[in-house]
Amino acid sequence: MPVYCITGTNRGLGLEFVRQLAQDSANTILATTRSLGSDLGELRAVASPSTHILECDTSNLTSIHQFAKDAARILHPAGQKVDFLLNNAGVNAASWQTSLSLGPDDLAAQFSVNVLGPAKVVEFLLGADLLAPDVRIFNMTSGLGSVQRTLGKGEAECTGYAITKAALNMLSTHQSIQLKEKLPGVVVVVCDPGWVKTRMGGPNAILEHHESIEGMLKVLHSLKAEDTGRFYHYSGGNLPW
Ligand SMILES: NC(=O)c1ccc[n+]([C@@H]2O[C@H](COP(=O)([O-])OP(=O)(O)OC[C@H]3O[C@@H](n4cnc5c(N)ncnc54)[C@H](OP(=O)(O)O)[C@@H]3O)[C@@H](O)[C@H]2O)c1
Repeated sequence: MPVYCITGTNRGLGLEFVRQLAQDSANTILATTRSLGSDLGELRAVASPSTHILECDTSNLTSIHQFAKDAARILHPAGQKVDFLLNNAGVNAASWQTSLSLGPDDLAAQFSVNVLGPAKVVEFLLGADLLAPDVRIFNMTSGLGSVQRTLGKGEAECTGYAITKAALNMLSTHQSIQLKEKLPGVVVVVCDPGWVKTRMGGPNAILEHHESIEGMLKVLHSLKAEDTGRFYHYSGGNLPW
């Protein structure tokens, strides 16, 4: 009876994670969304009876705190903990800005969702004793966060977003080391979903939602203890840092 917790599930890749995972009735899913006031029609349509739709604005510490309490209310009585945590919510704002024109507020807003959010979701779920000792933490990064890849391509795009995904990569490395004391079997990885036709990826992207998520679920379910700290591509290969 595995428990999955996924952020940003009202659309895009998060929604597709729920759609595929909800097909197995043994899965308990905490499907979180920035606001319960959003249009959740598609999410409700794919949810299974064991899918719990909860609010979690990952840019807002009060909201993440409340989410941890809501999750505890559901999981503690059943003696359950989160086995798979997918920090999926992300933003790519002001993608036209370069290293020579970064807007302070735009960069701060992206840091809040793409870096601080995944840090605090882990911290508050841990604080509420909701993470299994061998929890798999899957932080959604981007190839744009790879320093080596960017240098190799000689192209630098979406500067603010790329900076925050590189920071998420380092956050994940630190989580993989620092969580070990409390969660001995923890595995923390980052994964690039590929270029997918979501609102963020745009219509010219090369992958359909289902292809990316099928690949990532294979990666997620094959993770072993020695894989902690790795940078994956949705196809299963490793990417350079
Ligand atoms: N698509 C790609 O080609 C691609 C490539 C590389 C990496 N990624 C990464 O994959 C992840 C999913 O991307 P996507 O393509 O599905 O993007 P998307 O279609 O833009 O969806 C983003 C999701 O994140 C949610 N979100 C944004 N800010 C949030 C907040 N403060 N609190 C809670 N949820 C929030 C959005 O909710 P709202 O509807 O409320 O805004 C939405 O559900 C992201 O981390 C992204 O960086 C995507």
